[in-house]
Amino acid sequence: MQLIEVPESELFFIRSIEFREETIYFIVIDRFADGDPNNDEGPNPALYDPTRQHWGKYWGGDLQGVIDKLDYLQGLGVTAIWLSPLFEQVEDMEQSAAMHGYWTKDFKRINRRFIAKGEANSLNEETVFDTLIAALKKRGMKLILDIVCNHSSPDINGQKGKLYDDGVLIADFYNDTRNWYYHNPAITDWNDEYQLLYYEMMGLATFNEKNCEYRQYIKEAIKQWLDKGVDALRIDTVKHMPVWFWQEFLTDLKTHKPELFSFGEWGFSNPHDGKSPKFANDTGMAIVDFGLCSAIREAIALNQPGGFYRVQAIFDCDHYYNSATELVTFVDNHDMPRFLSLNGNWDKLELAIVLIMTSRGIPCIYYGTEQYLHNDTNGGNDPYNRPMMEYWDTNTDLYQMVGKLSQLRQNNSAVSRGSHQPKYVSENIYAYLRRYRENRCLVVMNKGYATTINLENPELPDGNYTCLITGRTFTVQNNYLGGLYLGENECLVLSCTGKPLEGKMLVRAQLNGVQTKPGETIVVTGDCPELGNWDIDKAYGLEYINQNTWFGEIPFNESAGKAIAYKYAVISPWAEPRRENIQSRRWILAHQGVVKWRDRYQY
Ligand code: NOJ
Repeated sequence: MQLIEVPESELFFIRSIEFREETIYFIVIDRFADGDPNNDEGPNPALYDPTRQHWGKYWGGDLQGVIDKLDYLQGLGVTAIWLSPLFEQVEDMEQSAAMHGYWTKDFKRINRRFIAKGEANSLNEETVFDTLIAALKKRGMKLILDIVCNHSSPDINGQKGKLYDDGVLIADFYNDTRNWYYHNPAITDWNDEYQLLYYEMMGLATFNEKNCEYRQYIKEAIKQWLDKGVDALRIDTVKHMPVWFWQEFLTDLKTHKPELFSFGEWGFSNPHDGKSPKFANDTGMAIVDFGLCSAIREAIALNQPGGFYRVQAIFDCDHYYNSATELVTFVDNHDMPRFLSLNGNWDKLELAIVLIMTSRGIPCIYYGTEQYLHNDTNGGNDPYNRPMMEYWDTNTDLYQMVGKLSQLRQNNSAVSRGSHQPKYVSENIYAYLRRYRENRCLVVMNKGYATTINLENPELPDGNYTCLITGRTFTVQNNYLGGLYLGENECLVLSCTGKPLEGKMLVRAQLNGVQTKPGETIVVTGDCPELGNWDIDKAYGLEYINQNTWFGEIPFNESAGKAIAYKYAVISPWAEPRRENIQSRRWILAHQGVVKWRDRYQY
C-alpha cells in the first residue's frame, strides 16, 4: 500500500503533552522561601511584614527562593511545580494584600516582590523568572502557571479593577468606557447558572468575555508566558465563565503551543453533580478533583461513617469523565484547612498521600505537606492554611514516601494511566489494583486497628513482592494473598512492571463512548502494518480503563511520518466484530514523538 510522506512543518499541530506521570507540588510563593531579602519591601513597604505576624501581608517568599530549593524539590520527587499567580498585583490593602496573587493589575508584568529589586517587570524583559525556567528545564522539571481569566481586583480603598497592558491603563471598573467588565450584583444563589457566569464573586471585578478586546488581551498575555517556557496552566474559577469562552481560549493557546496541558478549578467539582464532568468533557480541560479530596478527608481525617466506601463511591463515577486519569487530585490546598488541621495524626496524612499518589489522576502536594506543616488557628481556615515553610528535612517519612511513589508513577504505567479496580473495601480497609498491560500496582491500606485479611484474586502474577513503603515481603501464590497482616494505619504498595513500549512514534489512543459487554474487547484496525492493514485479526488491542474509556499506546515505526486511516472495532467472543460506522478516521503521524488521540466511538 502506498503511504504518503508528510512534511515536518505539518506535524507541529499533532503533538500533545503527557502529564499523567507528573507529581505536582503547589507553592504559594510568598510563603515558601525568601531567596532574595532585597525585594521584600516591594513597591509599597507597608504591605510587607518582616515579623510574619500579619497573615494578610507579604512575608518575603520569591522566585529566587524556589530556585534555591530545587534540589530539595527534586529530591522529594516533584516533577512539576505549580506556582501561585505571578502577575503584578494591586499594591494596596485593607484586611489583606494580594499576597495570594489572585488580584491582578497587569497580566503582562510580574509581581515585583518575586523578582530581583530594580529588575524591569515587563514580560518583555529578562528576570529571575527566566533563570527559574532555565533551572527547571535543566532538571527536566515542568512549570505550571496559575492564571485567572474571570476577574481582576476587588474594591480596595476606592479603586477597583484597574487593569494595565504592560504598564498602560486599559480598563477601570469605575470608568468602564470600553465595556471590559460586567456590572452585576453579587452572586447570591450558587445554583443559578446565570449568576455564576455573569454576577460578581467576592466583590471581584468580573471581566466581560463577550468583549473581543478583552479576549485578545488575555490570550496575548498568557501566550507571552507560554513563550517564556511555561509548560502547563492551572486555571482559576473556570465555573464562572461560559464553556464557549474556554473552548475558544484553549484552542487559541494550543494553536500557539500544541503540547499545552491545562487543568481548571471548577469550584467543588463532584462527579455526582453532573455539571463538572460535563464541563471537563465539553472543554477538554482537566479539572481539580474536589470530590475525591472531600471523600478522602471525610474517610481518613474525619473518620466519618462509610469510611473507604466514600472514596470508592467517587471512583465508581470515573466513567462520567472522558479522562478521569487526568483529574488533578489533592487532599488540601490554599482555600481549605490543611489535612493536619482536621486530624493531627501524621500517619493519617501519610495514608491520604499514598492514596492520591497511587490512584487515578495526577497528584498535587500542597507545599509543606512533606514537613507536616500546619497552623490550626481558627480551625486552620484561610489564611492559616498558608503558613511560612519552616523546615526542609529530607528525612521525614513523607518526604521519603513521596519520592518513592513519584518514581513509581514514572516507572509503572498502571499507576499513571491504568484502570482502578477495588479489591477489598470496608470502613477501614481499602485495597485496589491499578492495571495496564503487564503493569500492576496493588495498594492495601488500613486506617483502623491492626488486623489480618485474605486477598483473593489480587491479579498480581504469582511470585515474591517487596512493599515500596514498608520493605515487608509477600508471596502471591495461585493468585491469592492470604494471611495479610495490616498494622494500624499501615499501607502496602506492591508493584510489577512489563517492558515499556517503544516506537519511533507512539500514539496514545483514548476511546470514549463505546459500550461493551464483559468479555468483549476493543481494537484499532487500519491501513498500515501496525494496525494490521485492515485485517481485523491483526488489529491493535486497547485496554479497558472504565465503562467509558479504553486506552492503548500504539508504537509506529514503519508508518512514522506517514498519513494513515483507521477505525475502532468491538471484538466479541460470541458475535461478528462490530466496526465503527464511519468511512474511516485519518491521521498524519509525526516522524517521531508522542501524540494523544481522543476519539469517541461512532455507531
Ligand atoms: C480560587 C483560588 O484558589 C482562591 O484562592 C481565589 O481567592 C479565588 N479563586 C478567586 O480568584
